[in-house]
Amino acid sequence: MGFNYSITKTSTPKEKPDEKHLGFGKYYTDHMFMMDYDEENGWHNGRVVPYGNISLDPAACTLHYAQMSFEGLKAYRRPDGKVNLFRPDMNAKRLVKSNERLCIPPIDEDMFIEAVKLIVAMDEDWVPSEPGTSLYIRPFIISPEVSMAVHPAKEYTFIIILTPVAAYYEANNDGLTASHIWVEEEFIRAAVGGTGFAKCGGNYSCGMIASTEAQKQGYDEVLWLDAKEHKYVEEVGTSNAFFLIGDTVVTSSLTGSILPGVTRDSCIQLLKKWGYKVEERRLPLEEVLEAAKTGELKEAWATGTACVVSPIGVLRFRGEDHPVNGDKVGELSQRLYDSIYGMQTGIIEPEMDGWVITL
Ligand code: COI
Repeated sequence: MGFNYSITKTSTPKEKPDEKHLGFGKYYTDHMFMMDYDEENGWHNGRVVPYGNISLDPAACTLHYAQMSFEGLKAYRRPDGKVNLFRPDMNAKRLVKSNERLCIPPIDEDMFIEAVKLIVAMDEDWVPSEPGTSLYIRPFIISPEVSMAVHPAKEYTFIIILTPVAAYYEANNDGLTASHIWVEEEFIRAAVGGTGFAKCGGNYSCGMIASTEAQKQGYDEVLWLDAKEHKYVEEVGTSNAFFLIGDTVVTSSLTGSILPGVTRDSCIQLLKKWGYKVEERRLPLEEVLEAAKTGELKEAWATGTACVVSPIGVLRFRGEDHPVNGDKVGELSQRLYDSIYGMQTGIIEPEMDGWVITL
């Protein structure tokens, strides 16, 4: 292990929840990982402690100006009982980039991976085994520093918490279903030059108004358009977006307002391996809707750590529903889901070297 840490075990282990009714983020494990940062010591005082409340001064700057970053990855129960992690190196790299954008000191990538492995191993018996379930890992960084001044803090806390979860979209608990998506024209998620490529709380809070409105209208999520021209498709809710047009898969290039998703990258690599043409480019909404009309839009889907692959069955734009693949789960979306989730859970042999780490 490349860094020093201490372990304080809980004296009151909790009862495990029913794996058939986990929801998403309802239950938390027995322990959490914490580490502090200050200018003198850098990142230090790594520790596993019983899961519990943390104490913050009401003037902690993180509560006011949202200087924070986070990550999301999962641990999966294999059929042989062991536990898999999926590409945690990608999360470690992305956290460095998010931190840079948010003026938070970087966490060494190896240290991040070691801390994730340590806390997952600690609460290994919380990794569920029901189909579709996993242990969601949430590393995040906040600042406890007391200040009302708007400037980067000098003190931070890195925390990793763990929650056993079911499918992110309840509708997908018993297999994939196609979701209905509202094309959002009023609100935007992120602008180039902003924080769209970083994983930070503000990107998610600013999106809630649009998804709430879409849900009121009977849709599951929104399709975000670019902030400047409202012309190009960007992401779906909290996920990256893919479109199979003819024989080519198109997803937005990483313009600066797009989150570089681990599942996004995994889909691109797998699709290329399977012989598909993949284009990372700016994709006009007009092209998508035209392709939906002519039947050239064969499939569309969202990708993310939480949902893995979530097929899209309808795009709603200016009062009109545009069905995609007859509002059914497409073959390619299903194949991607089966392959990625299969690798993650160890049901199938990894198709790519180095993606799966077995603890
Ligand atoms: C993900 O799927 O990676 C997400 O970011 C969703 C999470 C915020 C719940």
